[in-house]
Amino acid sequence: MHPIQVLAVTGGKGGVGKTSISVNLSLALAGLNKRVTLLDADLGLANVDILLGIKATRTIADVMAGECSLADIMVETHGIKVIPASSGVQSLVSMGPGQHAGIIHAFSELADDMDVLIVDTAAGISDSVVSFVRAAQEVLVVVCDEPSSMTDAYALIKLLHRDCQLREFRILANMTRTAEE
Ligand SMILES: Nc1ncnc2c1ncn2[C@@H]1O[C@H](COP(=O)(O)OP(=O)(O)OP(=O)(O)O)[C@@H](O)[C@H]1O
Ligand SMILES: [Mg+2]
Repeated sequence: MHPIQVLAVTGGKGGVGKTSISVNLSLALAGLNKRVTLLDADLGLANVDILLGIKATRTIADVMAGECSLADIMVETHGIKVIPASSGVQSLVSMGPGQHAGIIHAFSELADDMDVLIVDTAAGISDSVVSFVRAAQEVLVVVCDEPSSMTDAYALIKLLHRDCQLREFRILANMTRTAEE
């Protein structure tokens, strides 16, 4: 089995551009002939599907309910594969850490068909976000030039460092107008 690169896009604060960056990075990597899968891990208020204009009939909620496999819910669009989440499904939001890890591990069955897995996480520092991030090898922290974005990103990094022993983070400054920002 070849190794898959798993990259989590996170940031603490809401609205800093995590989903936009996840989608654009996925499309850019696909343009470099990488086989990319984009996982919408914003389980409560999913919106990767909206950005890409896809209409998901089945989502991760159905996989967690044991009704189908991950391969069944994948949608191919714009040269990438998307694993859609559901909006407004409370059972997904309140899933335990073991179940989040289960989603990531379920990808091993699909490993032959992908090079990169991009994980678009929800805002905040919930258990769900932390377990998706710790399952990734690379963590991209999105910040913008706002005090609350800086403090939320700092809090997230501190938590991941202290509780998950993560030591390497990539920082992406989004929505900046000048080099100083
Ligand atoms: N570099 C950018 N330039 C201009 N607009 C941007 C940029 N990045 C993101 N946006 C806009 O900011 C808004 C929030 O972006 P996005 O949904 O990607 O953020 P998010 O971090 O995923 O939000 P959430 O925490 O709600 O999931 C969107 O309207 C998006 O189009
Ligand atoms: Mg988002």
